[in-house]
Amino acid sequence: MVTLAPMEGVVDVYMRDILTRIGGFDLCVSEFVRVSQHLYPASVFHTLCPELKQGGKTAAGVPVHVQIMGGEAHVMAENAAFATELGAPGIDINFGCPAKTVNRHDAGATLLQWPERLHEIVSAVRRAVPDDIPVSAKMRLGFAEKNLAMENALAIAEAGAGKLTIHARTKMEGYRPPAHWEHLRPIAEQLNIPVVANGEIWTPEDYVLCREASGCDDVMIGRGVIARPSLGREIAHRRSIRAPMSGTAFNWSQILGILAEYHDLIEGMANPQRQAGRLKQWIKLLARSYEEAGVLFTCIRRLEDPQDILAEVVATKGRVLDAA
Ligand SMILES: Cc1cc2nc3c(=O)[nH]c(=O)nc-3n(C[C@H](O)[C@H](O)[C@H](O)COP(=O)(O)O)c2cc1C
Repeated sequence: MVTLAPMEGVVDVYMRDILTRIGGFDLCVSEFVRVSQHLYPASVFHTLCPELKQGGKTAAGVPVHVQIMGGEAHVMAENAAFATELGAPGIDINFGCPAKTVNRHDAGATLLQWPERLHEIVSAVRRAVPDDIPVSAKMRLGFAEKNLAMENALAIAEAGAGKLTIHARTKMEGYRPPAHWEHLRPIAEQLNIPVVANGEIWTPEDYVLCREASGCDDVMIGRGVIARPSLGREIAHRRSIRAPMSGTAFNWSQILGILAEYHDLIEGMANPQRQAGRLKQWIKLLARSYEEAGVLFTCIRRLEDPQDILAEVVATKGRVLDAA
């Protein structure tokens, strides 16, 4: 199974739509709903996971599990139960967020210092959610050290989670490469639930190496597919379970077409400045796999009108096609 990673401010309803239509993903997880003291109204869940209004799936039919994050077991449970009433096909609990403000307020990766608290939160959520709705969790290898990784993972599994995704770094390691895939192997061997490997999968080759090192069949991919939108499909091709999916990466002209399509999708966002921000963000992230995206980014970085960015994308595509 390949899951599209939750990424706050990046993988929203539009990005999930476009990437799951490109293909290769079995599951998505929403951006986190930050649960603190209250039961949120439906509007909060609908804002972060608009797919709840269409059966909890993207247009391509891929389920979107709702992610919640917080440190108060009973409020987490209450919000999780409500999310399922709204149609969430699954609940994921975030124990990996490294943000200082989040950690200071007793949520995300800071909880990895207390396995018993992970247990308490996961069991409360599991009890509150109907039996047929999966509950999963996502953690890092630890807060400062990795010494509690196994204990945390066991606490989550024993509390009734059906699956555990592990971002193979500590909170202190942030996003610094490498991801320590090999640390997942003993955990995957010990747990009686699937462990999903996450971190630093940028190419189909990384996918193979990650599976070999971690011993995990399942992976979750975030930045890699933003930088290389065909990555899910290329992996599906390797897994040869979804014939006929192409095993080749998109060329630059195809990427420009995808960007134009994305522009049209995000016209659904009310604020043009945010639209421009999202387009710039994606173009910048694409530069990791496409040198040409770096050049395009230099041209558009000061533009504030999404229409101007689109015009530049279309003009670039024209030049690429002329040159071909
Ligand atoms: C901008 C950004 C936002 C993220 N937001 C979330 C989030 O809302 N929930 C979560 O569990 N992880 C979040 N993550 C972590 C990713 O899901 C993933 O664990 C991490 O990026 C490592 O995987 P990758 O190397 O495939 O990107 C975020 C990461 C980034 C870079």
